[in-house]
Amino acid sequence: MNMSSSRKRVFSGIRANARPHIGNYLGAIKGMLELQDKFDCIFAVVDLHTITTPYDTKTLRPMVKDIVLDYLGSGLDPKKCHIIIQSDLRAEHLELAYYLGTIYQVSRLEDLPTYKEKKAQHPDYVNMGLLYYPVLMAADILIYKAPLVPIGQDQEPHMEVAREMARKFNSMFGQTFPEPQSYKTPGQYVPSLFGEGKMSKTNGGTIILTDTLEEIKAILAKAVTDDGKGERFPEAGPAANLVTFVELFQGHDRAQQYRSEYKESGIKYQELKAELAEAIYKELAPIQERRKYFEAHPAEVETILEEGKTYAKTIADETLREVRSKMGL
Ligand code: TRP
Repeated sequence: MNMSSSRKRVFSGIRANARPHIGNYLGAIKGMLELQDKFDCIFAVVDLHTITTPYDTKTLRPMVKDIVLDYLGSGLDPKKCHIIIQSDLRAEHLELAYYLGTIYQVSRLEDLPTYKEKKAQHPDYVNMGLLYYPVLMAADILIYKAPLVPIGQDQEPHMEVAREMARKFNSMFGQTFPEPQSYKTPGQYVPSLFGEGKMSKTNGGTIILTDTLEEIKAILAKAVTDDGKGERFPEAGPAANLVTFVELFQGHDRAQQYRSEYKESGIKYQELKAELAEAIYKELAPIQERRKYFEAHPAEVETILEEGKTYAKTIADETLREVRSKMGL
């Protein structure tokens, strides 16, 4: 395996708070699939970030394993990329996070919108880890000197922190880190089926990658609808959202048919939902099949994670040696 060539390095991670849903799949994971062909990618499950908000100690480890299986099922290919669990490299990531923390202002972290939101969300759970969240995230990226980070728009403030830390470190101790840039993959926006905004746990039901046809049907059955009829096809709302799903899973032509139907005979949502459920399931079926293979071969998954860890550790150790030396430790 020659994966450490001169290709640019990419790092990204998803938290282990919830299973990725089809929105995450189309928005982020599909982007990762493209990147693994072009770059030297390390994709992580960032479980140390998960514990900064309330979580269940009993479900954390199974959740991490489930997400690794979701990654592999989706087609992340261990021959092309490296998959790691952040806590398998806890000593390394946390050590660099500590060093980076010593060169950064507390007040800047307190001002971050993400921190303020979390404080408001969990007023009884305002802990140091939460304040430190962006520092650890910067360490995740900088420890591999990754210049490219595929990530959602909501993470931009954290990326700015990572860049500022890289700059500050370089100016204090000499050129060490590249300033990491967000990488926008051509991901799809997947709306919520239950109202405003994008599909998310907080916006109602989500379809996860292991849902059966029956489960998908049950979720779609609850999706909000309207009369299905009107003079103009609406730009937002239930009809628009459901037809966006049709567009994503059944293609443009079928979506256009529904848009015309809306203005003519009217959309029959029951039929739309039945057809859409089949189409979503068809997209998930090969993922579920691959996932089942890995689920049935846990030793193979362990080997993949071992390989990822070994690869990542070599890079991380080298960065830490350089950092300690530059900082005079
Ligand atoms: N904060 C990121 C999120 O919620 C997760 C994350 C942690 C991450 N460390 C990272 C993403 C490093 C990219 C790179 O989406």
